[in-house]
Amino acid sequence: MTSFAQVVLTGDRPTGPLHLGHLAGSLLRRVELQHQFEQIVLVADLQALTDNAGRATEVSENVLQVLADYLAVGIDPSRTTIALQSALPALSELTMLYLNVVTVARLERNPTVKAEIELRDFARDIPAGFLCYPVSQAADITGFRGTLVPVGEDQLPMIEQSNEIVRRINRLAERDVLPESRPLLSITPRLSGADGRKASKSLKNVISLSATADEIRAFVASMYTDPEHKRASDPGKIEGNIVFAYLDAFDPRQDEVAELKLQYRRGGLGDVAVKARLVDVLEEVIAPIRERRSRIAGDRDYLSQVLRDGTSRAREITSSVLNDVRAVFALAPSPPD
Ligand code: TRP
Repeated sequence: MTSFAQVVLTGDRPTGPLHLGHLAGSLLRRVELQHQFEQIVLVADLQALTDNAGRATEVSENVLQVLADYLAVGIDPSRTTIALQSALPALSELTMLYLNVVTVARLERNPTVKAEIELRDFARDIPAGFLCYPVSQAADITGFRGTLVPVGEDQLPMIEQSNEIVRRINRLAERDVLPESRPLLSITPRLSGADGRKASKSLKNVISLSATADEIRAFVASMYTDPEHKRASDPGKIEGNIVFAYLDAFDPRQDEVAELKLQYRRGGLGDVAVKARLVDVLEEVIAPIRERRSRIAGDRDYLSQVLRDGTSRAREITSSVLNDVRAVFALAPSPPD
């Protein structure tokens, strides 16, 4: 058995600015992981195009926005390699090679893709690129010999499919060319949007990481609580109560939150008071991010430089992996750029 170094690999589709759900679910985790492991973060613009071909300009404009979000929350480009997927042609070539060891039936069975197809109402008009994006994601992961992939539950089928590809390639090669990866599931459950539905920019139920104080207040005001809890004196439900879900995720004083929950359940604590607390908590979380983001977001030269540096570091790794996989398919090494 070949032993591979631990490499953390993760990515985001640049379909819009990142929001608070990303912060709790993955961004804070990455800030920690960068001190423990080699870490690569991909801005997955090609993956974003698989269901946004008509919004290419927006995707392209969001690349630097997502990068600004990363830097504002504390992902440090000297510790984390931040790279642009579309600027790494080796990943596309790997995708092409992997497609030969994946069946159409297997792609159609991927539960995440299935759910997304329904959500997007593609019916029979599924872009082939969309159906195949799990293969491209396998290229993202293996292209860096990634072994640890911090993701939410919805991404588990992607890792499973990536590992199937890894096993096929290793079997063809009769040696371990690529490592399998495993998920690092986030500890905090996925945060819902303010209305209790899936957090999504298009549903307008999320709040950006650079929200103003007024936006925070409006966001919290719109949050779904317990419809049966009409008066402060009524007993209220915590389950499905979005205000408490956000307090769980972001309030540093969890002992007080536990106390508030008891009081809310018993009756005698109004939504107005809990929401006021959440506004303060979110302001504390967002204010420093907003401030850092406003300093860097306007500096496109700096942002572009960070992305260029990260991408060129990334290119060395992906090119070497590509050559390993090309050899498995009896192809000569790729000519150098
Ligand atoms: N599919 C992921 C998402 O929608 C984004 C992503 C692209 C990714 N490439 C990746 C995640 C590689 C982990 C590893 O959130």
